[in-house]
Amino acid sequence: MESSTVDVALPSPRRGIVATFFASTVGKKVVMAVTGVLLVLFVIGHMVGNLQVYLGPDALNHYAELLRGLLHGGFIWVFRGVMLAAVVLHVWSATALTLGSWAARPIGYRRRQEYAESTYASRTMRWGGPILAIFIVYHLLHFTTGQAHGDFVVGDVYHNVISGFSVWWVSAFYIFAMAVLGLHLWHGVWSMMQTLGLSHPSYNRLRTVIAWLVTLVVVLGNISIPVAVLTGFVS
Ligand code: HEM
Repeated sequence: MESSTVDVALPSPRRGIVATFFASTVGKKVVMAVTGVLLVLFVIGHMVGNLQVYLGPDALNHYAELLRGLLHGGFIWVFRGVMLAAVVLHVWSATALTLGSWAARPIGYRRRQEYAESTYASRTMRWGGPILAIFIVYHLLHFTTGQAHGDFVVGDVYHNVISGFSVWWVSAFYIFAMAVLGLHLWHGVWSMMQTLGLSHPSYNRLRTVIAWLVTLVVVLGNISIPVAVLTGFVS
């Protein structure tokens, strides 16, 4: 996200500290970065969990059952609540910052300046976000509730993954979504570290290495699963 927006949220005696923080550009960037950290930790953890498909049906199904049963079933709902709040705040801050940066630029100058300043990856954030939102809705209907799955069996996660990815266009859509996730993750991780303190140019190399590492591990780990199903490596 570019840093050229005008921060108009001046502290006022009638406005509380929290409201001033959320109204400011810096506050929104911090909200986006902190929720981004939670979402990145989720995709890494989820990918590690997904890789249990290589250990066979018992391991994957047992793992899914374990997560659902933690704290008498309470954990999953607290977790879902936290993740939903993180997604809502992430989308809100991204939208508000984008609209703010557009409004801060004069017409005509706006497009040229925007293209000159932003990298290819940062521009992809603006269409990558909505594509990922569509993917997540489809993904929940596919593997969690089953409405978008032709052969869904409640509680048999291994079966649902194998039969789900046996449909080539479903696998193709997942692979496409993982590529979009990769672009989003790369730029997101890079700018999140900048917002959270690693902003000196001497950290550029470190940030680039971490961004590549997270992106490649998550994207290749996830993509390997539909590929393994389609090639018959797991069945
Ligand atoms: C090839 C990649 C992926 C596979 C194989 C996969 C697999 C699954 C499966 C099997 C479930 C249902 C688990 C259960 O019912 O116990 C699930 C749930 C979920 N997945 Fe994925 N997933 C993938 C990628 C992603 C990505 C990239 C995201 C987020 C950007 C994501 C977000 C979610 C969410 C939010 C849930 C619901 C968790 C809950 O029950 O609250 N998944 N995934």
